[in-house]
Amino acid sequence: MNVLGVLKVCTISVTQYPLIALSLGALGGLSLASFLFSALRVLLQTFVLRGISLKTYGAKKGVWAVVTGATDGIGREFANQLAKAGFNVVLLNTVGSEIEAKYGNQTKIHAIDFSAPDEKAYEGLASLISGLEIGVLVNNVGRSHDFPVYFQDTTLEAIQDIIEINVKATLRVTSIILPSLVARKSGLILNIGSFAAAVPSPMLATYAGAKAFLATWSQALGEELRSTGVLVQHVNTFWVVSAMSKIRKPSALTPLPSTYVRAVLSRIGLPCGALGSPYYTTPYWAHSLVDFVLRQVGLMGIYMRVTHGMHKDLRARALKKLAREAKSQ
Ligand SMILES: NC(=O)c1ccc[n+]([C@@H]2O[C@H](COP(=O)([O-])OP(=O)(O)OC[C@H]3O[C@@H](n4cnc5c(N)ncnc54)[C@H](OP(=O)(O)O)[C@@H]3O)[C@@H](O)[C@H]2O)c1
Repeated sequence: MNVLGVLKVCTISVTQYPLIALSLGALGGLSLASFLFSALRVLLQTFVLRGISLKTYGAKKGVWAVVTGATDGIGREFANQLAKAGFNVVLLNTVGSEIEAKYGNQTKIHAIDFSAPDEKAYEGLASLISGLEIGVLVNNVGRSHDFPVYFQDTTLEAIQDIIEINVKATLRVTSIILPSLVARKSGLILNIGSFAAAVPSPMLATYAGAKAFLATWSQALGEELRSTGVLVQHVNTFWVVSAMSKIRKPSALTPLPSTYVRAVLSRIGLPCGALGSPYYTTPYWAHSLVDFVLRQVGLMGIYMRVTHGMHKDLRARALKKLAREAKSQ
């Protein structure tokens, strides 16, 4: 049947069954209105509205922010931008002196290897922060696989590291810091997540699973703390230029850490592209639009297959590079 034929059948159906046609039309109209309303909210939150001010959490009032994994990449940027906004900062590394020199804030550094932490390191963290007024915790520390790998070929060491660093460290640090946030009746916890949690990533299975754990845990914790004044946000991150992503050139979809962190800190409390997922946010504009479209289209099997293909290719290239390096030595 050609297009004219289809139109003819539709016209006959509408005249013969007006009630059904009207109901279908109304349903279609409602779906379209709901889609347009959601799209408008995402666009406003991503491009126009500003989130909760950092002053709400104590910026410029001598309050402290704690950042995990702040030597490099996104964590280093959080430490710098929170210091610039007027927080004293607790971090784990040498970025401390740089922050103090630049912004005149106080800095405390605590060395801890999250892949093999001993109780003493956590006890040390607890005594370091005792008596400090803490307003912000950024659970940023993370480790992925060195490059895509099938689970059956993943070393036990990599599995343990990924779980220790992404999951256990976040839980332990949060359990140490949370009482001071609750005591102040005001606080912000940002858990740095990954799209790999929302679209399970073949060949990064352990990392994706760890980030999915964090996403669910963040949402449950967010609801537990709803009436305490402590806001939890799972920050859904796609690609960002960093040592971990191994992407060096920024693009619209892969911002520099500085651009990315600015987006996160200016949209606190707004879900942006993660509309509909409580305590979730996708604040950087390009990631926000991708997240919104993925959620609307909802073809998870296809996204996973595409990711699988991409990871096979990345693994092949990484192995070739390793072979070249081995040859040249
Ligand atoms: N970049 C992306 O495209 C991307 C995408 C999605 C999600 N994320 C998430 O964003 C977060 C930050 O990633 P990034 O890209 O900024 O990574 P990065 O540049 O590799 O930085 C990771 C940070 O974590 C620290 N760290 C790693 N292992 C540690 C350990 N065992 N003990 C203590 N600190 C440790 C690193 O310190 P050292 O340098 O001292 O090891 C570094 O400061 C992670 O949670 C990651 O999963 C990133």
